[in-house]
Amino acid sequence: SPWRVVVTRRVPTKAMDMLRDANLDLDIWDSDNPMPHEALVEKVSSGCDALYCVLTDKIGKDVLDAAGERLKMISTMSVGYNHIDYPECKKRGIPVSHTPNVLTETTADTAVALVLAACRRFKEATASVIEGTWGTWTPMGMCGQDVHDATVGIIGMGRIGSAVARRLHAFNCNIIYWGIERVPQLEEKLDAKFVEIDYLLKEADIVIPLCPLNKETYHMFDMSKFKAMKKSAVFVNPARGELVNQDDLLAALQQGEIFSAGLDVTTPEPLPKDHPLVKTPNCFILPHIGSASMGTRTAMAVLASENLVAAYKGKPLPTPVREF
Ligand code: GLV
Ligand code: GLV
Repeated sequence: SPWRVVVTRRVPTKAMDMLRDANLDLDIWDSDNPMPHEALVEKVSSGCDALYCVLTDKIGKDVLDAAGERLKMISTMSVGYNHIDYPECKKRGIPVSHTPNVLTETTADTAVALVLAACRRFKEATASVIEGTWGTWTPMGMCGQDVHDATVGIIGMGRIGSAVARRLHAFNCNIIYWGIERVPQLEEKLDAKFVEIDYLLKEADIVIPLCPLNKETYHMFDMSKFKAMKKSAVFVNPARGELVNQDDLLAALQQGEIFSAGLDVTTPEPLPKDHPLVKTPNCFILPHIGSASMGTRTAMAVLASENLVAAYKGKPLPTPVREF
């Protein structure tokens, strides 16, 4: 009999049509709001062969237990999979797929936008226009840090890190990086240098984590890291909010330990609108839109469907999560 597939969100029609064309039996949470956790547990416990989810769904032991042995695969419409208890899935033999590659370039575009916005004080600048407090052009008004010629420190030189490095190389930036993987081709092509983390923090004008969130990277950016950076440093986070001890980031920005921050991700998401970080003039924040172009979000949804259909047909997954 055809698989019953629980889809946790309204996603592009094209992606759902692919599942329908494969004769899968769909149970779609047809909303732009997250499926409440209890509803998710409820749905999977009433019969779920495959789960099509997004990054706001927490797929922990409770969900896996509720789904039981009937659950055969999980496809997430995201590159990050920290919302899924992957070690537990692995233990139970449940493959997980994600959506790398298709979002790399769009996310790198967003990262560069954050770099420009944070370096050049776009939050304060646009606020002065909107609030009518912009008096007149002044020689030193709204002056920030230059992006061109800056030393950029990237933590985690994977797909997105490399795409950001390529872009900033065109700004004549000096690229240094640290992470679990060395990328010799990039060192050759962009004259990027692999350095120790302490050196990176001390030398970089712009610091950008582009590593996955896991036990090793959780709260990796705390006050000791911000203090190790230049006072003129700009911190940009296009990855995951939990990489950062957010209270420490707030204090670092308020106390001038660093110059500014540009964030696409926070803890929680959304931040309450009266959260101090939202009100901090030198903290430019976007609502997790790194991959949010029409083409890329559609491609992600389609790739998530391709993985699910491949699993149904017993074929190799196009983009499985691979770890360890
Ligand atoms: C976005 O954050 C993603 O993981 O795709
Ligand atoms: C800026 O607008 C300039 O002319 O220098």
